[in-house]
Amino acid sequence: MAPKIFLTGATGYIGGSVLHALVTAHPEYDITVMLRKTPEAFTSTYPNVNIVQGDYDSAEILAEQARRADVVTTATQTTPPPHRPPHRPHLNLLPNPTHLLHLSGTGILSDWSSPSRLGVLNPKIYSDLTDLQTMASLPDDALHRNTEKILFHAAAEHGEKVKIAIMCPPDIYGRGLGLGNTQSVFVRLYIDDVQKAGNRPFYYNEGTNTRSWVHIEDLARLYVRVVEAAVGKDKGFAGPGEYPGYYFAATQEHNHIDVSRAIGNILKKEGVIEDPEPVRVGLEVIDQMAKHPLFPMLARYLYASNSRSRAERAEKMFGYKAAAPGLLEGLETDVLAALGR
Ligand SMILES: NC(=O)c1ccc[n+]([C@@H]2O[C@H](COP(=O)([O-])OP(=O)(O)OC[C@H]3O[C@@H](n4cnc5c(N)ncnc54)[C@H](OP(=O)(O)O)[C@@H]3O)[C@@H](O)[C@H]2O)c1
Repeated sequence: MAPKIFLTGATGYIGGSVLHALVTAHPEYDITVMLRKTPEAFTSTYPNVNIVQGDYDSAEILAEQARRADVVTTATQTTPPPHRPPHRPHLNLLPNPTHLLHLSGTGILSDWSSPSRLGVLNPKIYSDLTDLQTMASLPDDALHRNTEKILFHAAAEHGEKVKIAIMCPPDIYGRGLGLGNTQSVFVRLYIDDVQKAGNRPFYYNEGTNTRSWVHIEDLARLYVRVVEAAVGKDKGFAGPGEYPGYYFAATQEHNHIDVSRAIGNILKKEGVIEDPEPVRVGLEVIDQMAKHPLFPMLARYLYASNSRSRAERAEKMFGYKAAAPGLLEGLETDVLAALGR
């Protein structure tokens, strides 16, 4: 029997790319996606993918799909802001005997809430092999922690019944492979905010704050490998002992000022700005940028914090390493997409 995969977020940047990679690598899989709105070309592009209409409030649909599926993969919005209740689907999905691969993000590692860390290099690089215990006990106000906490608990309590893995990508670049959103968020927001810094690329403090990155195609490839591990009932899908299988996906890291300069050079080449040299700005300027109603400090997180991770588990299990161009080589694609060119 064909393995049954249930996927949420298939119109998103990550989820759309994951769906595309899964269908391409495994046309034999029986895939069902839950959509709020079906993109026009969806059925003609993916004639063998089943659609259920619903959202994260559709508790019955989620429970039914989780009962039916061998592997459930969430690729929807998680809940970034601290102190917000996590989405319900994890609760709906957990009691069912299946493999659950949940999308999180390395925002969970970010030091955005420590003012002394902003704009300077933080030496801490997290490993998904040796820092599992740390990941299991990150503070409650870390981004995504509200949802991850449930999953760490569930892995410890119900690990025999439901196998859990967490995909934790860093910042992502490159053109998405799906039919919905094909742009990542960082470059688009940064270019919007260049205007607020007087049409100059910008940095805070020393600008040496450093973040990990992955190309969307490398991430989608890793997703396929982890789903394959679930389908093959590979014990490595779930983590050692009481832990979920935790997957960082980073393939490289860059400091903020280098990324700013590279974006500035492309913006200058495109005639959008005159001076590509990054300018130092204060926190009062950063705090006016990239507003999100649920996360007022989003800009500190994006532009001034560190978030460093190494995909050691994927490298060990699957020989995972970058196949796509690096961020600075591939950046023009993202800048042009953000400019609508
Ligand atoms: N992009 C990055 O650089 C990055 C890096 C690391 C982690 N992440 C995390 O990954 C998550 C997804 O990122 P993304 O860039 O793929 O986002 P995206 O392009 O905005 O996609 C979000 C997906 O979630 C769906 N969705 C949102 N609310 C929903 C709801 N209530 N019920 C059902 N579906 C819902 C959207 O459906 P509609 O099309 O119907 O709106 C869409 O398919 C984010 O939470 C982010 O924290 C992102």
